[in-house]
Amino acid sequence: MTTEELKSLYLDFFGQKGHAVIPGASLIPENDPTVLFTTAGMHPLVPFLMGETHPAGKRLVNCQKCIRTGDIGEVGDATHLTFFEMLGNWSLGDYFKREAIGWSFEFLTDRRWLGFDSGQLHVTVFAGDDLAPPDEESAALWEELGIPGERIYYLDRSENWWGPAGATGPCGPDTEMFVDTGAPACGEGCRPGCGCGKYFEVWNDVFLSFNRLPDGTYAPLDRVCVDTGMGVERTVAMMNGYRSIYQVPVLDTLAGFVRKLCGAGDRPGPDALRSIRVVADHIRTSVQILGDDLGVPPSNLDQGYVLRRLIRVAIRHARKLGIDDPFTEAMARLAIETEKSSYPELQRNRERILTEIAREEEQFGKTLRAGLREYEKLLPGLLRNPARIIPGRIAFRLHDTYGFPVEFTVGLAAEHGLRVDMDGYQAAFDKHRELSRKGAERKFSGGLADHSAIVTRLHTATHLLHQALRMVLGEHVEQRGSNITHERLRFDFSHPEKLTEEQVREVEAIVNRVIDADLPVACEEMTAEEAGRRGAIGLFGDRYGDRVKVYTVGEFSCEICGGPHVTRTGELGRFRIVSEKSSSSGIRRIRAVLEAT
Ligand code: SER
Repeated sequence: MTTEELKSLYLDFFGQKGHAVIPGASLIPENDPTVLFTTAGMHPLVPFLMGETHPAGKRLVNCQKCIRTGDIGEVGDATHLTFFEMLGNWSLGDYFKREAIGWSFEFLTDRRWLGFDSGQLHVTVFAGDDLAPPDEESAALWEELGIPGERIYYLDRSENWWGPAGATGPCGPDTEMFVDTGAPACGEGCRPGCGCGKYFEVWNDVFLSFNRLPDGTYAPLDRVCVDTGMGVERTVAMMNGYRSIYQVPVLDTLAGFVRKLCGAGDRPGPDALRSIRVVADHIRTSVQILGDDLGVPPSNLDQGYVLRRLIRVAIRHARKLGIDDPFTEAMARLAIETEKSSYPELQRNRERILTEIAREEEQFGKTLRAGLREYEKLLPGLLRNPARIIPGRIAFRLHDTYGFPVEFTVGLAAEHGLRVDMDGYQAAFDKHRELSRKGAERKFSGGLADHSAIVTRLHTATHLLHQALRMVLGEHVEQRGSNITHERLRFDFSHPEKLTEEQVREVEAIVNRVIDADLPVACEEMTAEEAGRRGAIGLFGDRYGDRVKVYTVGEFSCEICGGPHVTRTGELGRFRIVSEKSSSSGIRRIRAVLEAT
């Protein structure tokens, strides 16, 4: 069975049960700041699950593209992917447990549909706790359908309670369906939910009966709803008797591409197999993020940062496999070909996908070598330390200066039998963010800021410089500090090495060209999330929903900033860089002036 066949069977089945087929939503949630990506089919439906009327009615069905990165460390095993498709059916205050469970059973076991042997089915239900009672009703319904008690497992909240997708929203107990692959149990406690691969989860029926409030308590919903989700890749794997989801055609095609590039043959060893699968998964997901109509480019923020990590981790695994030449663009081309019939947006956004993925690979290649050299310098010292641990501040420096996603450092470390102090890394990360925020507050603290004409001009010149540096050196360049006096601007930014004379002149020339073009400078207020979506650079607030000012200079630059700025770049005069030197490790400092013309 192919994924297309499964999808059409599911939509037909629920169509026959009175459900309207609705289109899937974007991977980038609209109007929902609580999550970065659409993680389940229910996610775009939250307002309707909460009581709004859906124009298509009370019974809905669809196929939704989803991204989950919570289990990214498991990618490469038999069942985990970061991008996957989910079939789902919903009752918006219409049917409840009896119909939902009955139809799940019928679709899974009836020969006209999937025809699984009901003897292979194991189900789990919510065991109950202080906040909600055990879901005996669901267990009784399964028994009525012929699933004996020993194949019904009562599990706790961590396993059998779903949602909300963000911190607040609809949630409730669920019942999950697993197919026993027939593999031997891994031990005494082996049961559905065990990661050994014996039980494959295929479907989840959630009974949305509570709303989680911001204070962490649960309020019963007046109108209960059903939300179900069937993983397409997992179910197709089960239907075809595959031992892993990486045998599903689209993934098999991408993994085949990697196998061929690295010459691994059909039977790679376990480490190589895992790397091949990670590359296949991460490039597929990256193509989907870039190819979504609301897609974002790689950046150091939110979805863009997840994308950057996926591409960089894929490159690291490719290097481990001995693939040293650029490969992402060719692989993205294959991914687009393979999935464009299901997702025509990939074809629409083809140019963006190919350009951005190749650019990220090239940029990362530049800092990668410098970062690896730095890491190798540190290695003997790290290996001498009996704790065999990489301190958090070092992992943070590799991230901050060389653009190593922390997973990347974790992977490198593991190859040398080292661990990364993740708490220390997080602490260094938070401290840095706090310092940036305080710096920004100081800099833009209303009355204290200097709004004189020259300072205003230098503020705008700083934006032009920031953008020009990113164009000349790459997008790893980020502001690390800025200070403006009546005489000059000073700008600190992340970059691992001294700029060449040529680069300095090129940056200067770009800024002066923008000045000559007399571009308009505009300011708009928006949420930090919206600013991120527009690709704004600069310091973001800590929370979504914070309103920020975004200054754009024509099409040239888009940056979050408190201002003040000139209204046209023609007001600036001549821009000249007077010095470029190191400020601290991995941070360069430029001083520049504006001269009268
Ligand atoms: N929201 C539930 C899940 O993701 C069912 O769709 O599993």
